[in-house]
Amino acid sequence: MQGNKPMFFERFTVFAHRGASDSVLENTIEALRLSCQRGDDAVEFDVMLTKDGVPVVFHDETLSRLAGVNRRIDDTTFDELKKIPLKNVYAVPSLDDVLDVVKAYYTPVNIEIKPSRTDLAQATTSVVVDALNRKGLLYQSPVKVLLSSFSQDALIQADRVAPHLEKSVLTENLTEADVEFAHRINAVAVHAPVQSMSRENVAYVKDCGLKMCLYTVNDPILAVKARAVGIDGIFTDKVKDIQKVLSQE
Ligand code: G3P
Ligand code: MG
Repeated sequence: MQGNKPMFFERFTVFAHRGASDSVLENTIEALRLSCQRGDDAVEFDVMLTKDGVPVVFHDETLSRLAGVNRRIDDTTFDELKKIPLKNVYAVPSLDDVLDVVKAYYTPVNIEIKPSRTDLAQATTSVVVDALNRKGLLYQSPVKVLLSSFSQDALIQADRVAPHLEKSVLTENLTEADVEFAHRINAVAVHAPVQSMSRENVAYVKDCGLKMCLYTVNDPILAVKARAVGIDGIFTDKVKDIQKVLSQE
């Protein structure tokens, strides 16, 4: 936050989920760069640690789905990872390289801290914050930064080591406990599954002084409805389709 003024959610925000994943393989430097180049509102990506503690942008705990290799990210060093192509083409990017890209375009970022094991939660947050600091994005950042996580330990650590950064609580099933936890860690928003969209839930979250976002909204009709009921942002794999419909409303 800059002073008391929140940086995110001044208006309905369409987050490019894992970068421009409608056009390029998710969470790759190419997908993230394309999202920045086409001027998406904001870009979301996932971060976890390699065996040797390097923060990398990747969603799954293992390389099975994207590389056909049954190895865990946290059991693979960054040098080893560089030799394992995703879909025979792409490399798993380091967080540092991705931050260089978003910094070049001033694209607002939602960094989802995604510890691959519960015992890595605090370390993953600390390493992300270190990377932001290294890249000049921790204090007086030229780029808006929002941290989020499904991991409570990761978010508690974020509040401890970077209390000035905006944070969101990710949940798979919105409950009062999520809202209470959001207050405990001074979060600005909750990010809930699209199934949580209802006027009642939006009113409840807003009455509690929080913003509410939905993932993953790939149906333009649902995106229009989300904006109409007061949702503050959505995560989508289909930014172009969604923005087209939203702009016609
Ligand atoms: O941050 C929203 C969304 O990315 C959460 O789910 O599994 O796609 O990281 P996932
Ligand atoms: Mg994510």
